[in-house]
Amino acid sequence: MCGIVGAVAQNNIVPTLLEGLHRLEYRGYDSAGIALLNGGLNRLRTTGRVAELSKLVNERQFQSKIGIAHTRWATHGAPSERNTHPHFSGGGVSKVAVVHNGIIENHEALHQRLQDAGFEFVSDTDTEVIAHLIMLNLEKAPDLLEAVCRSVAELQGAYAIAVMEETHPDRIIVSRNGAPLLLGLGEDGNYAASDVSALLQVTKRMIYLEEGDVAELRRDGYRIVSCLGAGPCKEVERAVHESKLTNEAVEMGPYAHFMQKEIFEQPGAVANTLEMVLNAHSISPRLFGSEAENIFKQTKSILILACGTSYHAGLVARYWIESVAGLTCNVEIASEYRYRDPVSQSNALVVGISQSGETADTLAALSYAKSLGHRHSLAICNVAESALVRQADLRFLTRAGPEIGVASTKAFTTQLAALMLLTMTLSKLRGKLSDERELEMIAALRHLPVALQHALQVETQVKAWAERFSQKRHALFLGRGMHYPIAMEGALKLKEISYIHAEAYPAGELKHGPLALVDKDMPVVAIAPNDALLEKLKSNLQEVHARGGELYVFADADSRIQESEGLHIIRMAEHAGLLSPILHTVPLQLLAYHVALQKGTDIDKPRNLAKSVTVE
Ligand code: M6R
Repeated sequence: MCGIVGAVAQNNIVPTLLEGLHRLEYRGYDSAGIALLNGGLNRLRTTGRVAELSKLVNERQFQSKIGIAHTRWATHGAPSERNTHPHFSGGGVSKVAVVHNGIIENHEALHQRLQDAGFEFVSDTDTEVIAHLIMLNLEKAPDLLEAVCRSVAELQGAYAIAVMEETHPDRIIVSRNGAPLLLGLGEDGNYAASDVSALLQVTKRMIYLEEGDVAELRRDGYRIVSCLGAGPCKEVERAVHESKLTNEAVEMGPYAHFMQKEIFEQPGAVANTLEMVLNAHSISPRLFGSEAENIFKQTKSILILACGTSYHAGLVARYWIESVAGLTCNVEIASEYRYRDPVSQSNALVVGISQSGETADTLAALSYAKSLGHRHSLAICNVAESALVRQADLRFLTRAGPEIGVASTKAFTTQLAALMLLTMTLSKLRGKLSDERELEMIAALRHLPVALQHALQVETQVKAWAERFSQKRHALFLGRGMHYPIAMEGALKLKEISYIHAEAYPAGELKHGPLALVDKDMPVVAIAPNDALLEKLKSNLQEVHARGGELYVFADADSRIQESEGLHIIRMAEHAGLLSPILHTVPLQLLAYHVALQKGTDIDKPRNLAKSVTVE
């Protein structure tokens, strides 16, 4: 939820740190800070955005060849300057500076112990205990790497940290456990960051640290030790990866917002995700890993675990998996599942869906499912090196490219594409997919990028609707069948970035309560594809119409539904059968985007949110 960047190089690293922070800002953006070693340890911190910090740094003309920086999403302590990272310990002979992403669960016990040992606390954060603990351990182990190793051994919870100390002015120590952190190996120095995007400006050579790793970065080298398990930390080698990402992939280009860019990238993102099947005549379980066929053959039901938008993707997949593959499919919100006592089925395949692969609740739910006896798991994820991908037995990587806007868009449609492949694979292995049907479905997938391109063309009409929506305080979203989760996704998008209260209902449920909310001030958005439920939906829309509700309907070209007073229609170019939920997502994303644009909200960084939710 926070972004970390560190650099030690031959030249001034301040611009690199600030650019890195700027690119990590999607991870949290309520305060930002930087610590530099130039003579002694100095820091600048500010509430607000990285731009504020940059201004401060430029005013003071801060320069250094070594430093760490942080952009924060507050967990412990309000977003105030004193709670902003880096946190310091010391003030006597030397000082320690720490930046941290995650939560230290035993911080209260450590706080007490360190306070008893004479350390004075000046913030409300859990992070400050790390700085004091390292300072304490430096008395016993004067080497900074060793002191950090001893300190992390005492930490419980998920974290990634970067540390500097005055008597070791040539090095940065970093460590991770449950939160992402990677090293970047440059020509003129070495770097660390929460995410590749921060370091592409200086290098493409990355090392993904493993859980329990502690690394020492110097200008001309690095070493990594693993502190996992009992016993002393051991020096380890980690593979160096050449990142294939380009700088452009993490830049906005001609778009006004990352969200807009990502909405318009969907045809390409879906095509990339489906690349392996677009030229094929049949579908292979190997798409999900070498063990997939064996595991899928033992699979008797599916359990999907996810949060937010990824959960909505799971809900759509339930309709597909049940009707096409004939398998029972349960979909659970990960944060709820992990604290229930569900009855486990060892031969249910557990599917974790996550854009980031870092979401703490999804990771914990997956581990919990395993602890309950579920034998096999599959990760559907957009980040190859993420914890989720490492944790699961099977994996399918969506190829959406980096998604920077907090509101998830292309990650969702690529997840749906992946889930359709899963559905088809399971169906085929269960003898429920004829060769002919398989070919038809592959053809539909092949057409999907073009169909998405057509779906994007409704933008001008959606913009006109957005003007009316921006005046509203509430909205209802309706759908039926596999489009009900799409209504949920549309409502989530709208509330997330425009701050308009929006709720989704299965249209048939309206008369059981929510209809009471309908009046002329309540816009009601409905998804009306030309499917078997259209006539049922039309009756539900009549119920709204009859009560003076204003209806905004996304129909298909051939949906038999007419415009009238109070009933506005935008028609999608075509009906896409089972893939219809993917297409109907697009206008809802555009609606949320344009309403937010009208309202002037911070679209890519909506208030109170962050992109990766690495805490409970
Ligand atoms: O990275 P994940 O897919 O696990 O994230 C799950 C949710 O936090 C995420 O989808 C969130 O709901 C989005 N901001 C919605 O746009």
